Amino acid sequence: MEAIKETNFTFAGQTGFYRGKVRDVYFFEDRLALIATDRISAFDVVLPRAIPYKGQVLNQIASLNLKATADVVPNWVLSTPDPNVTIGYHCEPFKVEMVIRGYLAGHAWREYKAGKRTLCGVALPEGLKENDKLPEPIITPTTKASEGHDEDISREEILAKGIVSEQDYLTLERYTRTLFDRGTELAKQRGLILVDTKYEFGKYNGQVYLIDEIHTPDSSRYFYSEGYAERQQKGEPQRQLSKEFVRQWLIENGFQGKDGQQVPEMTDAVVEGISERYIELYEVFTGEKFRKETYNSVLERIEKHINDNIFTTKN
Ligand SMILES: Nc1ncnc2c1ncn2[C@@H]1O[C@H](COP(=O)(O)OP(=O)(O)O)[C@@H](O)[C@H]1O
Ligand SMILES: [Mg+2]
Repeated sequence: MEAIKETNFTFAGQTGFYRGKVRDVYFFEDRLALIATDRISAFDVVLPRAIPYKGQVLNQIASLNLKATADVVPNWVLSTPDPNVTIGYHCEPFKVEMVIRGYLAGHAWREYKAGKRTLCGVALPEGLKENDKLPEPIITPTTKASEGHDEDISREEILAKGIVSEQDYLTLERYTRTLFDRGTELAKQRGLILVDTKYEFGKYNGQVYLIDEIHTPDSSRYFYSEGYAERQQKGEPQRQLSKEFVRQWLIENGFQGKDGQQVPEMTDAVVEGISERYIELYEVFTGEKFRKETYNSVLERIEKHINDNIFTTKN
């Protein structure tokens, strides 16, 4: 099975390089090229095998959503010159991730189940079940650790520690809610519920910009709307479109990202299953058939598209 595990380019005019868990980032003057590779991470750990077409799915869903929100929140993107590449402004990232949740799922549910009734300083009502809709969407930020795990943090702590200034933080909160409303609308048009997601922001020329990817299966959780209420009533699991099934598979096989734990073996069948789920999300989300780009000369293709477009202006 072919997949892009990593890239090792040296571009003319390149000023730096950063290998993220999933994306390879090439810096140039005031901009950067983000290459979505096929790496997959869960519990902040990069898994040993790459997932065919995952990078393309991620980059294309992100691109679509960044375009579909650009009228309400300014974002970093200048162009998407390749199925796996986005080019845009290099912003100074805020050291928080803005997580927003409309439903009690994933990490929030695991905390609630363990008895917590406050998450990141936000009070949660009694009597909720897993996947219930919250009275209103809540913002539960995390720190953006340069290594290891991101941790929950409250608005109060972010301000007290001066991680973000109060003025900027109010902007981040406002943008986060606006984006989540738009994301919810976009999902609804496709018969999906946007359960929760996270946004990252940065500054460029003194202005706050939305950065990174948005509303992708890596950064978001979706349920199918059809049958949601019935399943909740019967206490059945929801039909999910997200990376949660990968986390579930890891948990079932004894891995929760804790020190000393071993990532279970990923067989071809597991890798293919994950790839199919990402493609399914793409097709449901866009309403279009996914076009698998060939892996023949994929690195040359990416390199050329970056070279041809890195210094062109907004299009
Ligand atoms: N416009 C931007 N300016 C600066 N940094 C960005 C921008 N867009 C994305 N990033 C950063 O690029 C990285 C993308 O790669 P990713 O695989 O998500 O890495 P990580 O492991 O750090 O989450 C992230 O660290 C993200 O914050
Ligand atoms: Mg990231």
